[in-house]
Amino acid sequence: MTNKKITLVYFSPTATTKSVLDAIAKGTGYEVDSYDITLSGARETIPQGLDASLIVFGAPVYSGRVPKLAADWFKRLSASKIPAVPVVVYGNREYDDALLELKDISVQCGCAPIAAGAFIGEHSFSTQPAPIAPDRPDEADLACARKFGEKIAQLLETAGPAKAADNLMVPGNVPYKKPTVAKGVPFIDVTDDCIACGTCVEVCPVDAVDEKNGFGTLDDICIHCCACIKACPQSARIMKDGPFKDISVKLNQTCGVRKEPETFFADAK
Ligand SMILES: Cc1cc2nc3c(=O)[nH]c(=O)nc-3n(C[C@H](O)[C@H](O)[C@H](O)COP(=O)(O)O)c2cc1C
Repeated sequence: MTNKKITLVYFSPTATTKSVLDAIAKGTGYEVDSYDITLSGARETIPQGLDASLIVFGAPVYSGRVPKLAADWFKRLSASKIPAVPVVVYGNREYDDALLELKDISVQCGCAPIAAGAFIGEHSFSTQPAPIAPDRPDEADLACARKFGEKIAQLLETAGPAKAADNLMVPGNVPYKKPTVAKGVPFIDVTDDCIACGTCVEVCPVDAVDEKNGFGTLDDICIHCCACIKACPQSARIMKDGPFKDISVKLNQTCGVRKEPETFFADAK
């Protein structure tokens, strides 16, 4: 039995990031505490004085970056030299500067990043006719995440948090990639299969489903996370013909070669 605590802090609209973080936590064997900031209500408060043996920051990669609303919330956390592990989950294209950005955010919060990981999740834009990394993370990915957790726990056991190195190197460039702005682009069609169950309203991280207007999407607010599409029990929400559907088809054609998780560790001092 251990009394060590791991705190997971994550944004995960289609739950692949959550699955990877849960597996990492399992691997550590630590007691788990979670801040899931996916829904807007959960982002209204900021925990004060985080206290844990280890903090894992998790975010999906959006256009090579950490989604802005997650980055902005993470930056408001403060922790005193707690060992941290930034983890990004991406849809088998690239993670570009997202892992470096998340590592930098963890430092900004006062954490000491000791390891980092980039894992693969089914792409949010993946559809049945145009799958992109379907069913990832799969069992092999989750086994890798558990092993990663195990290794982090061993590292903390042998090196101890006091020796946590400040020399963690991860891929990425500064200045980070310019974020893509796609506000107002028509994205989702609601078909006649909609039974007005309201699941889409419940899962939207930015409250962009217009319940009073046929459950349509407010395109100026939508972040294109696809949570509502994936959660709809009737499969009644579909991508409109247009730029996003074109991207989905292109990614299906260009990102077919399986990528594998990557993990990084700081050198012990
Ligand atoms: C707006 C948007 C942009 C994305 N950009 C990228 C990207 O640059 N590279 C990539 O490989 N995947 C990209 N993805 C896919 C997600 O990173 C991937 O599906 C991830 O597993 C989603 O995490 P979640 O399940 O925790 O929401 C993007 C997804 C969305 C919604």
